[in-house]
Amino acid sequence: IRAQSPIHWGEFFGNRGWYITGYEEASMILKDLRFQNRMPLPETTKWFERLKEIQKQMVLYQNPPDHRKIRRLVNERFTPKVLERYVFMIEETAEQLFSHIKNDKKLDFIADFAFPLASTVIARLLGVPERDKDLFRRWALTLIDTIDLNRSRKSLVKGNECIVEMVHYFKSLILNSKRNRKNDLISVLVEEQNNDKLTEDEVLSTCILLLIAGHETTVNLISNAIYCLATNQEQQIKLREEPLLLKTAIEEVLRYESPTQLTARIASTDVIINQTQIKKGDHIYLFLGACNRDPKNFPNANTLDFAREPNPHLSFGAGIHFCLGSELAKIETKAALRTILKNTNSIQIDSKQLEWRNLTGFRALKELPVV
Ligand code: HEM
Repeated sequence: IRAQSPIHWGEFFGNRGWYITGYEEASMILKDLRFQNRMPLPETTKWFERLKEIQKQMVLYQNPPDHRKIRRLVNERFTPKVLERYVFMIEETAEQLFSHIKNDKKLDFIADFAFPLASTVIARLLGVPERDKDLFRRWALTLIDTIDLNRSRKSLVKGNECIVEMVHYFKSLILNSKRNRKNDLISVLVEEQNNDKLTEDEVLSTCILLLIAGHETTVNLISNAIYCLATNQEQQIKLREEPLLLKTAIEEVLRYESPTQLTARIASTDVIINQTQIKKGDHIYLFLGACNRDPKNFPNANTLDFAREPNPHLSFGAGIHFCLGSELAKIETKAALRTILKNTNSIQIDSKQLEWRNLTGFRALKELPVV
C-alpha cells in the first residue's frame, strides 16, 4: 500500500478514513494543526459516559488553545534536567529487579522485569503507592484495549468500569495530597486545582493518562528491545562490544519495532496533502510503524541496524502532541539494557512461545520467556 498509495482511502474494522503509511505524509499531517486530535470514542456514542468524560479532558485529545494549559504544566516535570534527578533511582531499581530474577530458571522478562521497572518509576514520579502495581497492570491492559481500532463492545464496558475504579482510586490520593503536600506530580496538579487553574476532572484525567501512558508503552519498548537483541544475535554481539551504541540502538528499536503503531486525527477543514484532497471531517489513521519503515527515508528499512544514524523515526509522534515522556522512556530503557548486558553473556528467548497481543495500535508481546 505504501509504495502505491501512501495516503489511502479505506475501511478497517469499520473505521472509514485515510490510512497513512508514507513517512513524509505522516510528518506533514502530525505537524499541521488543521488536523486535530480526536477521541477514540466519539462523543455521540451512547453509553460509556465516564470513559468519554475522562478521555475528553486528557491532554492527548485536546487541541489548541486548551491543549497548552495542561501540557505546559506537565512539561516542567519531564525536562531532561528534571529527569536527571531520577537516573540513579531508575538504574538502582533495574539492578535490584535483575538481582531478584537472575537465578530463576523460568522467567518472563515482561512480568518480572520490564513491567515492575516502568511501573515503579511512574508510581514514584506521580506519587502513587508502588504496592498497587498489579492494579496498574490490569488497568493499563484494559484501557489499551478500549483505544484500539478493533476494540470490542465488551472491552468498552470493561474500560468504562476501569475508569470508574481509577477515578475512585485517584480521588482518595488527591484528598491525601491536599492534606499532606509532597513533591510529586499529583501534588503539583492539586495545587493548580486549589488555585482554580484546573478542574477536578482535569486533574483526574491527567493522573490517569500519565499512569497508563507512563508505563504501558515503556514496558513494550523495553521488551521489544530485549526481543530485538535475542532475535538478532549479530547486533547483540555488536552492542556488547561497543556499549556506546546503546543510544542509537534504542532509537533503532523504537523505529524497527515501534511500541505505538498508530495514532489518529480528524481534518478540521478541507486540506490538500501531496495532491490528495482531504475533506473537512475525514478521519486520518497514521500508521507510525509503517512510516518508520518507509524506504524513501530509511535506507535498508527492513534491516535492524543498531548504528543507524540519522534516525528521525515517528515513534513518539511529532508536532504539539510529541510524547511528553520520550526522555523518561529512553532513560528507563537504557538502564534496563545496561543492567541486562552487564549481568549476562548472551540473551536467548524461547521463540516458540512468543505471541504478540492482538492489537492494531501497539506492538506488544504477551510474554517474553528468556532461557
Ligand atoms: C504522546 C508514544 C512513553 C506520556 C505520545 C504520542 C506517542 C507516544 C506516539 C503522540 C500521540 C499523538 O500524537 O496522537 C510513546 C512511546 C513511549 C511513550 C512509544 C515509550 C516507549 C511515555 C511516557 C509518558 C508518556 C513514559 C509519561 C510519563 C505521553 C503523553 C502524551 C504522549 C502525556 C500526550 C502529549 C500531548 O498530547 O501533548 N506518546 N510514549 N509517554 N505520551 Fe508517550
